[in-house]
Amino acid sequence: MSDNSSYEKPSLAVLGLGHVGLPTALGFAEMGWEVIGADDDASKVAMIRSGHSPFYEPGLDEMLARVLAGGRLTLTQCVEEAVRAATILFVCVGTPQKDSGEADLSQVEAIARTIARNLNGYKLIVEKSTVPAITAQWIKKTVARFAKHADAPGGLHAEFDVASNPEFLQEGKAFENIFRPDRIVVGVESERARALLQRLYQSLDCPILFTNVSTAELTKHAANAFLSTKISFINMVADICDAVGADVGQVALGMGLDPRIGTEFLNAGIGFGGYCFPKDLRSFMHLAHEHKVDCQLLREVEKVNLQRAEVFLKKVRHAVWVLKGKKIGVLGLAFKGGTDDIRESPALRIVKLLLEEGARLQVHDPQAMEASRQEVPPQAGRLEYCSSAYEAAREAHALLILTEWQEYRKLDFSRLHALMEVPVIVDGRNLLDPEVARASGFEYIDMGRHTRAEQPVTTVESASS
Ligand code: UDX
Repeated sequence: MSDNSSYEKPSLAVLGLGHVGLPTALGFAEMGWEVIGADDDASKVAMIRSGHSPFYEPGLDEMLARVLAGGRLTLTQCVEEAVRAATILFVCVGTPQKDSGEADLSQVEAIARTIARNLNGYKLIVEKSTVPAITAQWIKKTVARFAKHADAPGGLHAEFDVASNPEFLQEGKAFENIFRPDRIVVGVESERARALLQRLYQSLDCPILFTNVSTAELTKHAANAFLSTKISFINMVADICDAVGADVGQVALGMGLDPRIGTEFLNAGIGFGGYCFPKDLRSFMHLAHEHKVDCQLLREVEKVNLQRAEVFLKKVRHAVWVLKGKKIGVLGLAFKGGTDDIRESPALRIVKLLLEEGARLQVHDPQAMEASRQEVPPQAGRLEYCSSAYEAAREAHALLILTEWQEYRKLDFSRLHALMEVPVIVDGRNLLDPEVARASGFEYIDMGRHTRAEQPVTTVESASS
């Protein structure tokens, strides 16, 4: 048996402290494990060590303070040190996208080589980053290839396993997903790896699916591609609702009450964005293409999603006529509510198109202002970043809702009405209650809900009552 036997309480290392790695490291420490968090970005490590998260995630700073005080999390920018000190190594590095849509796995390979050079005992290497199927095989090959062999001077023990344990956490709900996951998916090749991961998650109350490594890898892509498909489907239905005068919100409810469909992820709007769905869809399509599997279905999902911006702009033009020179208030820049993340944000895509059409924008977001300023810098008389939603509405000819921040539902609509030049709201997220907006005197336009004042109130009752 190796020098740090895996049946003692294994120590964990989380390699990469981004949107997946940092919550994962904190989650395991909070569950009682000794965790080493490593990232080669020294400034990020210093920031985290000082108790500040490099990104916004509800509850993260509080969790960080608690875990740091508890002493179960060690932070280092020396990945080698973390690899040598731990038995279970969670690979949480970035897997950005190449122009071809293929996942760029260079950071994963770099980690595999670092592990190979530091195999000082049995290691369980666990993929947590989203990676295409068969990546684990490449990690295995790379570690075996670059590992120094026992008979080499100062020979090192080269026993290791590679497992897949995809992450399903949603930004803005990371800790809810970590401590109360719907399920855990684990792909393993050895009983030893299975036993270690089973032990790791034994405190969680949820189904744990043990399968082989490629199946686990593929599950993540398939899950994200399916959720993306659900969103593009309901967005297509929303356009049909607009055409025939039906209410997509009620259609989604009527569909979703069937447990085979489910009501989640049927919110119509301006489309999906973020670091995961668009990228994972493209990476999944690339994998299918590589293996000559027709993935036209996914191409349509992506096409519908990219067309949402124009569908929304048509509604804005219909509301304000000429966009050029119009003062437009924009509420929401992040790719969704609850995060400061603007990666592939549908909201920012629309902001850029509005600027191209000559509109003068006053924008607001509760968390994503800084990141948005970097991406689309302020322009005098063209693009102003406002300190509040009310500032964004000042003298506006229309107010656009582009991100589903719940706090926008609690705005004082009569105050907004008084501030605006023309009381028009175009809600790209079906976030607001149409009756509240109309009762405050707004012309209210949304995505396929077609609610009208005189329509009967919709209720879900029990058939037997
Ligand atoms: C997603 C997956 O949900 C998560 O399981 C995985 O681990 C990472 O990718 P995230 O990127 O945080 O998580 O965002 P998510 O909450 O899934 O939303 C994705 C996008 O879809 C957002 O732009 C959101 O606004 C949009 N969306 C979501 C809709 O347009 N309609 C919906 O009904 C739900």
